[in-house]
Amino acid sequence: MNIQQLLTQRISQAMIMAGANSDCDALIKQSAKVQFGDYQANGIMATAKKMGMPPRALAEQVLKHLDIDDIADKVEIAGPGFINIFLKASWIAEQNEIALNSDKLNITLPAKPQTIVIDYSAPNVAKEMHVGHLRSTIIGDASVRVLSFLGHNVIRANHVGDWGTQFGMLIAYLEKMQNEHANDMELADLESFYRAAKKHYDEDEVFAEKARNYVVKLQSGDEYCRTMWRKLVDITMTQNIATYKRLNVTLSLNDTMGESIYNSMLPGIVADLKQKKLAVESDGAIVVFLDEFKNKEGEPMGVIIQKRDGGYLYATTDIACVKYRYEQLHAERIIYYTDSRQHQHLEQVWLIAHKAKYVPESLKLEHHMFGMMLGKDGKPFKTRSGDTVKLNDLLDEATERATALIRAKNPELTNKELAQIVDAVAIGAVKYADLSKNRTTDYVFDWDNMLSFEGNTAPYLQYAYTRVLSIFKKAGITDDDLTGTVSLASDKERALATRLIQFDETIATVAAEGTPHVLCAYLYDIATLFSSFYENCPILTAENDTLKMSRLKLASLTAKTLKIGLEMLGIKTVEKM
Ligand code: ARG
Repeated sequence: MNIQQLLTQRISQAMIMAGANSDCDALIKQSAKVQFGDYQANGIMATAKKMGMPPRALAEQVLKHLDIDDIADKVEIAGPGFINIFLKASWIAEQNEIALNSDKLNITLPAKPQTIVIDYSAPNVAKEMHVGHLRSTIIGDASVRVLSFLGHNVIRANHVGDWGTQFGMLIAYLEKMQNEHANDMELADLESFYRAAKKHYDEDEVFAEKARNYVVKLQSGDEYCRTMWRKLVDITMTQNIATYKRLNVTLSLNDTMGESIYNSMLPGIVADLKQKKLAVESDGAIVVFLDEFKNKEGEPMGVIIQKRDGGYLYATTDIACVKYRYEQLHAERIIYYTDSRQHQHLEQVWLIAHKAKYVPESLKLEHHMFGMMLGKDGKPFKTRSGDTVKLNDLLDEATERATALIRAKNPELTNKELAQIVDAVAIGAVKYADLSKNRTTDYVFDWDNMLSFEGNTAPYLQYAYTRVLSIFKKAGITDDDLTGTVSLASDKERALATRLIQFDETIATVAAEGTPHVLCAYLYDIATLFSSFYENCPILTAENDTLKMSRLKLASLTAKTLKIGLEMLGIKTVEKM
């Protein structure tokens, strides 16, 4: 149980004993200011109102019944009826000790791990990954890491766009290329491949005819078309996997669950929705009309699930997909990481799946949406010439910038050391810049900010981590040498130690809401609190050995927290920089 849960339990118990309903909410929050203690209960006012009682009177009753002496040494009523809780230093110290001695820093693990499908990254075949895929890929991967750490059965689902009518022209073009360039071809530049295929399709009627013919053949399972299609998928995914590796993202080839795998389900879905009277024919197409969504004219919105020419749509695939994830993967929770423009699409898909009883209401369906990545001019992030920025180009630039920066800071590094640090810093900076912003809004991509060693950045945290390690190195001490107990005499020690044991509730929030920025803000706090602790409380030159050991323990827990926290974000640490 994390501190928030523990205090919720204690305060609620007292509220119930004071006459509140058993469903009363203590609303425990971390206090924003030291004078309000470490935590505050904000739920007294609302409950008192329900009970028809003055809030301060209820607060007084709650304090009378409250059993909290083991955790807190001061509890007071403030303002109209807030309860401020001041944790006991000895209890905080003890919790630090426990965290330090447990292998997952004493994080509360769920009583019943869930099967959670995380739908993320999802680039399209025969196209190179661009910055538009960055947010889904790295926020999704952070979620994967956090939920896996908690012991959930996490299934990564890379819903790549590997199906659709464009494959006719892509196959026709691949064939043309192969004929011209002998057998072994490599799609060094997928982007121009796609563009060239499209150009041929638009300009060459013979080619276009062939392409249309290939679409039909591919969909009916023709072996030649299938093989060519496979080639396109393999070439694209091999390149994407290399990019994932570079990004330190955990997606592998096995996680590819593209749109194509649902293809065989689609005719059955359409027939079933028709039979259930959910889908009707309209202008030759098959449409599901939803009363819950209104179009501009105020009429029920129609979701097309089969076009007049027999083709299926993105929505049809997603309806099949959610059914599959429930039935075959036994998902209990599905999280989609796509940008906010796909919100309505997903809501409609889920609604249809619910109406058709493909998935039960108990299945948790969540869209963890995000805004766009903007340039410094506030417009969507583009190259100078206005093209979309390829992900690999972006990472190349990050590497170049980080190399110059690290080399200037530390000229003595060997090339090998330099390369390792640059990899951690460059990729870390790009990822952290994204992860540290609230995902629901757009954010401005700014090289100078993200690579700065000051402020809430990856390099700052990575550097803070190396500083803690260097203390141990300097003293010739390892974790195994730590003895004695943690004691918290000064404010700085207490502040750091208190924040350290809030790792548990921080992770709980991130796991529930898919908000890595909360973890970033937390780690940044830890790094700054450590820094002021270190400046004010000598560690290696402490007055006595007992104090030195206590402070080394806080330093050790700081390092572990930073390392595990950054790992959850998919950001590497180095031993020196
Ligand atoms: N490939 C899609 C795109 O690039 C994203 C897929 C998201 N997942 C899903 N199940 N629809 O927009």
